[in-house]
Amino acid sequence: MAENMYGLKRTHLCADILDVATGTELVLTGWCHKQRDLGGLIFITLRDRSGEIQLLIDESCPEAVRQKGAQVRSEYVVAARGVLQHRASANPAMPTGHLELLVQELRILSEAKTPPFYIEEKVEANEALRLKYRYLDLRRPDMQRKLMLRHRITKLTRDFFDTAGFYEIETPMLSRSTPEGARDYLVPSRVFPGRFFALPQSPQLFKQLLMVSGYDRYMQIVRCFRDEDLRADRQPEFTQIDLEMSFVDAEDVMAVNEAFLQRLFRDVMAVEIPMPIRRLTYAEAMRRFGSDKPDLRFAMELVDATDLFADSSFRVFSSVIASGGSIKLIAVPGGAAMTRKEIDSLADYVKTYRAQGLAWLALDHEPRGPVSRFITEPQLEQLCQRSGANQGDLLLFIADRKDIVATALGELRCEVARRRGLIPSDVYSLVWVTEFPLLEKDEENGRYVAIHHPFTSPMDEDIALLETDPVAVRAKAYDIVLNGTELGGGSIRIHDQNLQQKMFSLLGLSHEEAWRRFGWLLEAFKYGVPPHGGLAYGLDRIVMLLTGSESIRDVIAFPKVQTSACLMTEAPNIVDQKQLDELYLDLRQVEGNRDDQQ
Ligand code: AMO
Ligand code: AMP
Repeated sequence: MAENMYGLKRTHLCADILDVATGTELVLTGWCHKQRDLGGLIFITLRDRSGEIQLLIDESCPEAVRQKGAQVRSEYVVAARGVLQHRASANPAMPTGHLELLVQELRILSEAKTPPFYIEEKVEANEALRLKYRYLDLRRPDMQRKLMLRHRITKLTRDFFDTAGFYEIETPMLSRSTPEGARDYLVPSRVFPGRFFALPQSPQLFKQLLMVSGYDRYMQIVRCFRDEDLRADRQPEFTQIDLEMSFVDAEDVMAVNEAFLQRLFRDVMAVEIPMPIRRLTYAEAMRRFGSDKPDLRFAMELVDATDLFADSSFRVFSSVIASGGSIKLIAVPGGAAMTRKEIDSLADYVKTYRAQGLAWLALDHEPRGPVSRFITEPQLEQLCQRSGANQGDLLLFIADRKDIVATALGELRCEVARRRGLIPSDVYSLVWVTEFPLLEKDEENGRYVAIHHPFTSPMDEDIALLETDPVAVRAKAYDIVLNGTELGGGSIRIHDQNLQQKMFSLLGLSHEEAWRRFGWLLEAFKYGVPPHGGLAYGLDRIVMLLTGSESIRDVIAFPKVQTSACLMTEAPNIVDQKQLDELYLDLRQVEGNRDDQQ
């Protein structure tokens, strides 16, 4: 039966007794991690969020304590009063391993079923089970450390931006569609039949309005919602560190964020980030790394060899060049030792990025591989010179449309680095990627689409190109990238009404349509707008990378799985007919009934 704590007040957390003198009487509480009953001796490892300590019950203890100690099982919640003493045999694996509590009074505050998996530092249990019993999973010390670090990071963030003159201001969750371009989560209105709120994909428009209102520097740690395909670094609801500043240019935004990142790494990781943070333009990042979020922890840059193969007798290469494509390669250090099987599996890998094939050349004494007989001595010399390749290296070529070459070879570069262990651990390589294109053309309908969002300003020197060559226009946009993951992105916004109108019309939004969707913002822009810009980080991604986690699910207390469902609460779920009626919602029959879709 569960007992209460009456008359027993906790004096310390389990692992906070290191400074306490032996002989002191303490009251400790927590979960039984393990109980061992050796007849005359009972050992209980007691766990709370601070760590563990051993409770000892021996023949000197009152009979009632010995009886109760024998009943304690894993995950029971207990309170113990006792005297701190040195352990007969210390356990060096435990920080408190030289100490124990000799128990004088023991209460079982709550019993526990046998958990579906061990509550241990490293679990073997599969993730679905862990997520169904997330409250047990969250008892594990490594999960607790991650969430505690997350707390430290949010605290540090608030303190830093407070000192830098930012105000944290909350913005609505129930609002209208924002322009980030993912699918919205909608909330039906009861008061206005047939109308819906959209949950914010970001506070973008509200933070711009706060600049119109003169708050000058805004920040918010804010939940955002996007109904998009999930991956390891995406969740349907996630948290941004969101910023906006007035009377600034891109340099000002980057400067305050460099100071923030420097502080973050220094205080949380004890790592000094070299300043200033490196920069690459989008064009250069794509050219050298085949990615707008390049991982700079290792080299293996993409090398252009298109000019060397225009007249090649290797048909694959010459025909790609004839049709306007390009040929690029990477040089894998020591890669000549790779087996055929390993190389074939890389060829399969690039096919997932739409590359037709992968040609290779192993730099043994005699060059080997499918292209070796087509390559002349001067070509080989050039290839080695451009890529820095040496004897023993492997050259991997992709010939294709330019965009396919960039993406496929960029992905291959990272995959080869992972497979061959070329990525140093404990290196944090930050880079700003700047001068993103403002627009891209949707191949299917020929329309222009904003790469960042429609409020991003073009670069001044490119404004004229809006009339003649819109996809060549560069934006005042910047992303901050860490080890190949986009941590955050932002831009200087358009604050000129005419330019904003031009942007909307390029995006195919008529004057009426633009006003229908964003009228409240456009109206506000008639009342005096300071030049402004900002940035938003994905907080979950920052915590994921700083804790060395594989997925952002590991740094979110109650995350969703790939299908956007929560395995613990079984959300989303059906609702009562009455609730639907109140919202004027009629459900169409869904194939396979919604109950089956859980
Ligand atoms: P953006 O859409 O680039 O910009 O988002 C900013 C950052 O938010 C994180 N992020 C996500 N994290 C987890 N799950 C997701 N589904 C997800 N989507 C985005 C990323 C990303 O870099 N309003 C603009 C910012 C601005 O212009 O100031 C915005 O939201 O780390
Ligand atoms: P094939 O002539 O199709 O037998 O191809 C000869 C070699 O060239 C094989 O190793 C293919 O993987 C490779 N290859 C084919 N297409 C491409 C391409 N677009 N880019 C690079 N290598 C290719």
